[in-house]
Amino acid sequence: MPAPPVSKPSHLSLPERGPAVTRARVDSVASTYGPQLRDAELDDLGPTEAWTVEGSNRANGYATHGLFRYFGKYPPPIGRELIQDHSAPGDLVLDPTGGSGTTGVEALLAGRRCRLFDVSPTALAVARAKTTPVCGDAAREALAQVVERYTPATATEYPLEPVGLRNPDHWFLPETADSLRGLHRSLHTLDDTPVRQLLHAAYLGAIRRCSRATTQQGRLFLDADTARTDTLDTFVRFSNRAIKGASALPTNGDVTVCAHDARQPLPLANGEQADFVFTHPPYFNAYKYSRINSLELAWTGVKPADVRRSEIREYFKIGKPENAAKYVNDMQGVVENCLDAVRPGGAVAVMIGDTRLQGTHIPVTRRIIDQVRETRRMEVEKVVLRIPRHTEASWVSSQRRTADKLGVPLCDYIVVLRAPQ
Ligand SMILES: C[S@@+](CC[C@H](N)C(=O)[O-])C[C@H]1O[C@@H](n2cnc3c(N)ncnc32)[C@H](O)[C@@H]1O
Repeated sequence: MPAPPVSKPSHLSLPERGPAVTRARVDSVASTYGPQLRDAELDDLGPTEAWTVEGSNRANGYATHGLFRYFGKYPPPIGRELIQDHSAPGDLVLDPTGGSGTTGVEALLAGRRCRLFDVSPTALAVARAKTTPVCGDAAREALAQVVERYTPATATEYPLEPVGLRNPDHWFLPETADSLRGLHRSLHTLDDTPVRQLLHAAYLGAIRRCSRATTQQGRLFLDADTARTDTLDTFVRFSNRAIKGASALPTNGDVTVCAHDARQPLPLANGEQADFVFTHPPYFNAYKYSRINSLELAWTGVKPADVRRSEIREYFKIGKPENAAKYVNDMQGVVENCLDAVRPGGAVAVMIGDTRLQGTHIPVTRRIIDQVRETRRMEVEKVVLRIPRHTEASWVSSQRRTADKLGVPLCDYIVVLRAPQ
């Protein structure tokens, strides 16, 4: 029997706002997901819903969302629903682990002000590009100039080398490296404006696509067959898509993007308080962001190890359950900072996934909530089970193994906390 919706899917009539989210009562999916919620120790935390984002990956690339393939990005309609549920037009929305800026784009489209933070220069560059409107004609003219001024460049002709990569030749064919240098040189003849920022993000997108690393999963594995050798064409294609999205963004928005470690108190202007905070942090034992973005960091002169030092300790694939305590401590700090930044009575939503190690479910989400409860007054208002339809599920099936065996979570949880009045 199909799950009965508890609310009408919204925005079906507004394609530019992306696919609908179907919300169902969790008991309608209990036969499949009940055991997972019990293992996660979340079944007693409050009213629980199950959300599924409709539409293909392509359909979820509306506005500027498809500008860069940021592994670990959440489906944008989730942000849209949370922002609509917990804030009003003109309100201030915060995302302290903002990644590629999905929350910022959704806040902008919904007429909310937004502050995004992250520790990765790649994430910050992409988030700025995705949330800054540009004039389409000016951007197309700049792109034409970049193409016209482009010629491949050896390291002697243009001294740009990827930094912090152990073996750059492993990841880049010599002609791709020359093309990336040539593009970088040409891009930097443009004035430092939002248009250059946008084209720079398209350049960042072309790096992984033209590398010899797999494009199907975040972790870096050699997959030489998928490397594209037409770097300039790839860059132009990505740029055109970026220009189309960014030239249609609202021009009256207020979104800022800053480097900040979310374990430290969130830097808000004097007296400013958020109306709603949404954090989607790294998951325990899933992705190490400075590693999966190391090719883009390397070509922009940032050593991945320098980013690593500020990252939440997610213990990427080390596989030791005892490390979960350190992750939970870091995340306790992040969630406390979110609660401190939100206005009295405001909501903080945390979207997170558990993991399985050595066949055992590690309920980090529940542990974080319990630790925060010891230090802060707050209510758990709702737990949402987010059921993925595409990327993660298809990756698991492509490995011909179950999520349990691979140690990846197939569902994640959105826990909505309410600060006291
Ligand atoms: C799951 S991703 C967020 C993806 C984002 N929601 C999006 O749609 O693109 C987690 C992000 O947390 C960032 N991060 C890791 N440690 C951090 C820290 N200490 N402070 C702030 N951000 C951090 C990572 O760089 C990564 O971009």
